[in-house]
Amino acid sequence: MSFKYIFLSVAIAMALVVIVFIFHANRPQVEVQQPSADFVRAAGKCANCHRRETAAVVHQFEKSVHAKQGVSCLDCHQAVENQQERIHNGFTIAKHLTSKNCSGCHATEYHQFLRSRHAAPAWAAVAGGKDFTAVQIAFSEKYHKGAVDRPANRLAIAEGESAMSVGCMGCHDIGKPNADGSIGSCTDCHARHNTSVALAREPQTCGQCHMGPDHSQIEIYNESKHGVLYNAQKAHLNLSTPPKSLTTKDMPVPTCATCHLSGLDGLNVTHDTTERLSYWLFAAVSDKRPTYHQAQDAMKATCYKCHARTQVETFYKEAEGVVVDTNEKISEAQVLMDSLREEGLLTDTPFDEPIEFLYFDLWHYYGRTAKHGAFMGGADFVQWHGNYELLHKMAEIEKIAKELRNNAAKQ
Ligand code: HEC
Ligand code: HEC
Ligand code: HEC
Ligand code: HEC
Ligand code: HEC
Ligand code: HEC
Ligand code: HEC
Ligand code: HEC
Repeated sequence: MSFKYIFLSVAIAMALVVIVFIFHANRPQVEVQQPSADFVRAAGKCANCHRRETAAVVHQFEKSVHAKQGVSCLDCHQAVENQQERIHNGFTIAKHLTSKNCSGCHATEYHQFLRSRHAAPAWAAVAGGKDFTAVQIAFSEKYHKGAVDRPANRLAIAEGESAMSVGCMGCHDIGKPNADGSIGSCTDCHARHNTSVALAREPQTCGQCHMGPDHSQIEIYNESKHGVLYNAQKAHLNLSTPPKSLTTKDMPVPTCATCHLSGLDGLNVTHDTTERLSYWLFAAVSDKRPTYHQAQDAMKATCYKCHARTQVETFYKEAEGVVVDTNEKISEAQVLMDSLREEGLLTDTPFDEPIEFLYFDLWHYYGRTAKHGAFMGGADFVQWHGNYELLHKMAEIEKIAKELRNNAAKQ
């Protein structure tokens, strides 16, 4: 190679270095300084790197309303008050995110959520009230007496630590008390990066937790006319319409969200899933809630958007009839169990004798299922998974009770 070519190469290389310097000096200030929220928004530095590292997160985020409205990665991932920070590739981000990373921009939804049983009561149903501050307990007691100020669940204790934390809390951590003083998680229904109303309106989103024999809402829904229509017509519904403008034209078929949260045709949207409930259906014997009348009016207002009043009144009358009859059947079993305990034929420890499991199945599975089936249109659940099993389990309970009494009489 001649000297001329070497000289030319060196000259070109030098020129390139100079060009790079000039180019760099002319870059916008925000890009050469320490990273800031504005920079993240402008340059998407998190997204650029994470497209290589965790691509799905970025793809999900890009489809969200947040991305379209200019909410950045750091808007959610920055540490807010009382959160631990950590340094991450030149950025300061929070160690863990909670509902507090949403409530700064969505205070209304957070405060409605706090009043619901999805907040503190959900966690306390398993772990009891010990993880909450006195102020948090006092707040919840105003809305749900005895739902947080209570001991840890005896069944959870009997099953042990890993059953509780991976099993029960897999659903009940929707109301987890967070170290930063907030309660719960918003992303169980909205997902972390997709964060949409469309996802939250999907029945299956609620069905992650509202399933199985003790709260078979998703199974009942899928059997109901509403569920059948939804599954058939889903492709023609506008599930992503913003809540404030949601009409029956967008969703002529209701999902769980429509009846329990949505603001159809101008009704109020609520994150307080308790607002429209008139009974404590989850209880062994279901009493009317103190808000019985307002709650029923609020739920019926939703039905009226799609149904004639006479139809809805008949439906409620029949469902309330199932509650009355189920209460009677469970009370009968309850009286029998109480008398066995008084006669000294059962220990005080729960879940150590077969008859206790039968009784638990009776109300917790079949009693609940009959009531839920009646209110959400699941005939098979009122009957075969409900009343038939009530009859069956009662016969077994009576048989064991008789044996216990006979054995005691022989001694
Ligand atoms: C230069 C590349 C790079 C940049 C820039 C970057 N990250 Fe990361 N991030 C990573 C890598 C690598 C991981 C680890 C992935 C793994 O464990 O597989 C990670 C992990 C994470 C995690 C999970 C941490 C955990 O332990 O659970 C979060 C959250 C995160 N990044 C958020 C962000 C946010 C928000 C930004 C922008 C403010 C950002 N990252 C910028 C490369 C980057
Ligand atoms: C709407 C708020 C929000 C936005 C916007 C957001 N994130 Fe997240 N992200 C979360 C939440 C909540 C978690 C769960 C964190 C936790 O459990 O501590 C999370 C978790 C993550 C994780 C860990 C995921 C895993 O499964 O390992 C990564 C990585 C991450 N985010 C990166 C990003 C990046 C990159 C962006 C922007 C492209 C972004 N996030 C935008 C809320 C958000
Ligand atoms: C698959 C999700 C899931 C799991 C796992 C789960 N639960 Fe639940 N639990 C729910 C749902 C949903 C309800 C609401 C039922 C209703 O209102 O009809 C509920 C209701 C309850 C209630 C009645 C409400 C209250 O505040 O008193 C108690 C108590 C309870 N669960 C305790 C437990 C315990 C203890 C465990 C573990 C041994 C557990 N749950 C496991 C989802 C779950
Ligand atoms: C039980 C499931 C569930 C939980 C938990 C939940 N959401 Fe929602 N959210 C929904 C549903 C369903 C909608 C859509 C309501 C409708 O159809 O009108 C919604 C709508 C929203 C909207 C849009 C409201 C509007 O009027 O435009 C925001 C913002 C929101 N949620 C934020 C949150 C925040 C913040 C949290 C946590 C404090 C949270 N959500 C927890 C189910 C949930
Ligand atoms: C920096 C402020 C900010 C933060 C933090 C934030 N959001 Fe949002 N969010 C917005 C804005 C702005 C919109 C669009 C509102 C609109 O169009 O009315 C939005 C819209 C939404 C919607 C409605 C989406 C739809 O499909 O219509 C949901 C749901 C939501 N946010 C949930 C969350 C959750 C959950 C978190 C926390 C993990 C969160 N947001 C964090 C600002 C924020
Ligand atoms: C992560 C799990 C989870 C998801 C997802 C979830 N829930 Fe729940 N839900 C629970 C638990 C746990 C309870 C019981 C709380 C208690 O009473 O202790 C509950 C209770 C309820 C109640 C009864 C409230 C009361 O006052 O008795 C309604 C109604 C409800 N959920 C509706 C919904 C709807 C609608 C959705 C979907 C938009 C949904 N839930 C999504 C876990 C979940
Ligand atoms: C057509 C409206 C409608 C649909 C759709 C619907 N529900 Fe319900 N749901 C009701 C009514 C009505 C009640 C009883 C209300 C009362 O107590 O007055 C109820 C009761 C409940 C309860 C019982 C709360 C308790 O006291 O134990 C839960 C939990 C629940 N629904 C969750 C769901 C879930 C999850 C879905 C979807 C899989 C769903 N619902 C679909 C109308 C509906
Ligand atoms: C968003 C509209 C919408 C809402 C809200 C709604 N429904 Fe429906 N419902 C329908 C549609 C559509 C059908 C199917 C009607 C048909 O066959 O033409 C249906 C069917 C029914 C059926 C079955 C009728 C039959 O004979 O097959 C009952 C019962 C019912 N709804 C009760 C209720 C109750 C009770 C509520 C309130 C708790 C309610 N619905 C809320 C749209 C709705």
